[in-house]
Amino acid sequence: MTAIEDSTVRDPDALRADMVRALYDQDAVKSESVAAAFAAVPRHRFAPDAPLELAYDLHRTVPVKKDEHGLDLSVMSAAHLQAVMLEQAEIKPGMKVLEIGSGGYNAALIQELVGSDGVVTTVDIDRDIVDRARLCLDDAGYDQVKTVVADAEAGVPDGALYDRIIVTVAAWDIPPSWLSELAEKGRLVVPLTVRGTTRSIAFDREGEGLVSRSYRLARFVPMQGEGAAKERKALLREGVVVQTDDERVPLNTKALNHALDTPRREFWSGAAYDLPDELELYLTLHLSSAARLHASEAVVDSGLVDASALLGVPALVSEDSIAYRTRRENEDTGGFESGVVAHGPQAEALADEYLSLLRRWAQDHRRQGAATIRFLPGPAPSTLPENSVLKRHGVVAVSWR
Ligand SMILES: C[S@@+](CC[C@H](N)C(=O)[O-])C[C@H]1O[C@@H](n2cnc3c(N)ncnc32)[C@H](O)[C@@H]1O
Repeated sequence: MTAIEDSTVRDPDALRADMVRALYDQDAVKSESVAAAFAAVPRHRFAPDAPLELAYDLHRTVPVKKDEHGLDLSVMSAAHLQAVMLEQAEIKPGMKVLEIGSGGYNAALIQELVGSDGVVTTVDIDRDIVDRARLCLDDAGYDQVKTVVADAEAGVPDGALYDRIIVTVAAWDIPPSWLSELAEKGRLVVPLTVRGTTRSIAFDREGEGLVSRSYRLARFVPMQGEGAAKERKALLREGVVVQTDDERVPLNTKALNHALDTPRREFWSGAAYDLPDELELYLTLHLSSAARLHASEAVVDSGLVDASALLGVPALVSEDSIAYRTRRENEDTGGFESGVVAHGPQAEALADEYLSLLRRWAQDHRRQGAATIRFLPGPAPSTLPENSVLKRHGVVAVSWR
């Protein structure tokens, strides 16, 4: 009996059917076309060395290639995230689509969506990855997908214009080639990293630039090559890192580490804490000197840093002090109340700034999808628009409804 049950569970077709149902249940798949694509492509054939359960796990990536430190250079993305991004892209039959970052599986899904009249090109900077993707695509019957080895910073002019460009690697910026190779009514779906947090953003054209239609938190391996992010990281002590891509932010390792040894002070906002993804976008764009604080589990367990830093939390830093968000249960604010942990001689001043943002967000902007994100290409303007971040090829500007 057990043997029969086990063999049923391990059948790839059954696992795939379960995956599609779960993608629907979890709101990742919304359309029949995306569901049909996930049902059609044999995901395990693109992860031949992985256990079937891993290949069909909704939320886990499958490792493909690591660097010399053991960090992922390439993975098969989690099915849940792939579904979210394909829904964001709204791909129709007959379209020309460029996928940036290869693996084979996602390109096969896209081929299913564009059908036999559509054209799919997938590009990767790494020849090993493209060779592997090619083998898997041919093996699974998707030999019509075109594979290219190139740094996607320069785009893929052969095959442009594209109705859709889907980037499957964390991009710090939007290079001019992606805009010039996008059709007039095209859509760019890109996991864009803004102040250390990556969101998959569906962009349509607006004038010379781009305007967001939707955004979702996402995690991807970082872009390599010309477009790689240039971030500063300060290891304050074992398990505590502060990072920022804002040149104006001071990162004084010694003084910030010393601040952590000064008493921890807590300040409470009296305002609701929820929708952390939305709140985080607001905070990172409004804090006057924003960085990201990460702490390891061991450091959190020791009580030195709050659990909010486990996945990284927006921090306000000065030369010698640091403040970051926390929360506590409070029925009066709808379940949780937001607050601030601060250390160092300027703890109170930093906490004041942070608290006023927590309150303003809770009062005026506490909604799902309340932000609109624009990309304004071109050289740096003499004065940055409000709530914006300067990139190499333009400005990311965010407004809230
Ligand atoms: C998450 S993997 C792609 C997953 C794939 N789309 C799938 O079907 O699951 C990200 C890929 O982006 C590639 N990459 C990184 N930087 C790149 C660049 N500048 N141009 C093109 N590809 C790049 C990496 O080599 C890696 O294979």
